[in-house]
Amino acid sequence: MDIPEITGSVYYDPTVSQACYTVAGKPVDKLLVKETKGDNQMDTHSEETSGYYLKKLAKGDNKITLTNCYSEAIPDKLDLERFERGQQFFRQNISACLFTMMCSLVCGLCVTNLLEPLVFTGKSDTPQKSLIRYLKTMAHVVQWHCGNVWDINSKARKSLQIVCGLHDRTRVDMMKKTEKLYVSQYDMSLVQAGFMGAIIMYPKQFGIKASQNDLKDYVYFWRWIGYLLGMEDSNNICVNSLEEAIAICHEIENDIVYPALHKPPPHFHHMAKAFTDGSNILRNFKFFTPESVVSFSLDLAKKERLPHSFVDKIRIIFFKVFVNLIYYSSLFRNFMNRNIEHLCLALQDKRFDAGDGK
Ligand code: HEM
Repeated sequence: MDIPEITGSVYYDPTVSQACYTVAGKPVDKLLVKETKGDNQMDTHSEETSGYYLKKLAKGDNKITLTNCYSEAIPDKLDLERFERGQQFFRQNISACLFTMMCSLVCGLCVTNLLEPLVFTGKSDTPQKSLIRYLKTMAHVVQWHCGNVWDINSKARKSLQIVCGLHDRTRVDMMKKTEKLYVSQYDMSLVQAGFMGAIIMYPKQFGIKASQNDLKDYVYFWRWIGYLLGMEDSNNICVNSLEEAIAICHEIENDIVYPALHKPPPHFHHMAKAFTDGSNILRNFKFFTPESVVSFSLDLAKKERLPHSFVDKIRIIFFKVFVNLIYYSSLFRNFMNRNIEHLCLALQDKRFDAGDGK
C-alpha cells in the first residue's frame, strides 16, 4: 500500500505558534511529500470503498495544512454578506446545531485518522478532561460563528490561530513517533464534514429550522472557515455548491463512518464514553451514552442501529422529543438558544481573556 514519505523535517515554533519546515537545513513554506510503498497506511479510504469525491479528497492524504489564518489579507472572492448570513443561520439555531455537532463528533470518533491524534494528545481520555476539551471546542466554534474572523486582531481570528497551532503541534509531535502524516488535508476534509455535514444533510431531523438558502449560506461560511484553518480548495468540501457538499458528506458517512461504526477501532468506546460521561457531568444525570447517541444518529439517517440497552431506547426517545420540541416550538428553541448563548459567553470570557492558548 502507498504511504506518504515526507522529505525534510518539521518542528513547532512557539514564537509564531505554528509548524515550520526545513529541507536540507533550509526553511521552506511547505514540505514536499512523495509516495512510497509501506504496509501501515490509514485504512479509511481503500480503493474498494471510495466513491468519486473520496478518491479526489484522498489525494490530500499526504499534504499538510496551509497557514492562511496568519494573513491580514481578505480574499478577493469573499462575499462578506453571504458569510455573515451563514453565521446568522447558526446563531438562530445554536442549540440544535451544537447538539448535531455533538452527535457527529461521537460518531466521528470511530474514524481512525481522527481518533488516533485525540488518543495521542491524551486531552480527552477521561470524562473530566473530555468535558474541558469539548467545552473549549464549543467556545472556539461559537467564536467563529459570532465574531469577525476577518479582523486579524479579533478574538475570533485569535481563536482560529490557536486551533491551527494545536493542529500543527499535534502533527509535529506525532511525526516524532511515526512516519504517518497526521492532520493532513484529507483528514481536514473528514473533520470539516463532521462539523457541518449532519447540519446540511439532516437539518429538520436534528431540529434545525433551515431554508435551502440558509444551508447554502452555511456551506459558504464553512468554505471560508476551512480556508482559514488551512484547507486547500481541492480538499475543502464546501468550495462549490450545497448539493456537492451534501454528496461528499454522504460519501463520507456511507464509505467511512458507517463501516467504522460497525467495526470500531480499539480506543473508540473508551474515548466516546469519556465524551458522553463528560457531557453528563454538566447535568449530573446520565443523559448520554455512546450507544444512545450513535443509534439516535443512525436512526435519523435511516440506518441500522448498533446494539443498545432498554434504557438507551428511552434516551433515544428523549432525544427525539428534544429535537422535535426545538423544531416545532419557537418558545422552547429561543429558551434553549438563550441558555446556550449564556454558557458560551461565560466560557469565552474565561478562556480568551485569560489568554489561554492551550
Ligand atoms: C475543519 C477541520 C477541523 C476543525 C473545525 C477542528 C476544530 C478544532 C478545535 C475547535 C480545537 C480546539 C479544542 C481545544 O481547545 O481543546 C481543535 C483541537 C484539536 N484538533 Fe481539530 N479541528 C479540525 C481538524 C482536525 C483534524 C483533521 C485533526 C486530526 C486528525 C484534529 C485534531 C485535533 C487535536 C489533536 C486537537 C488538540 C486538542 C486535543 O488534543 O484534543 N483536528 N480542533
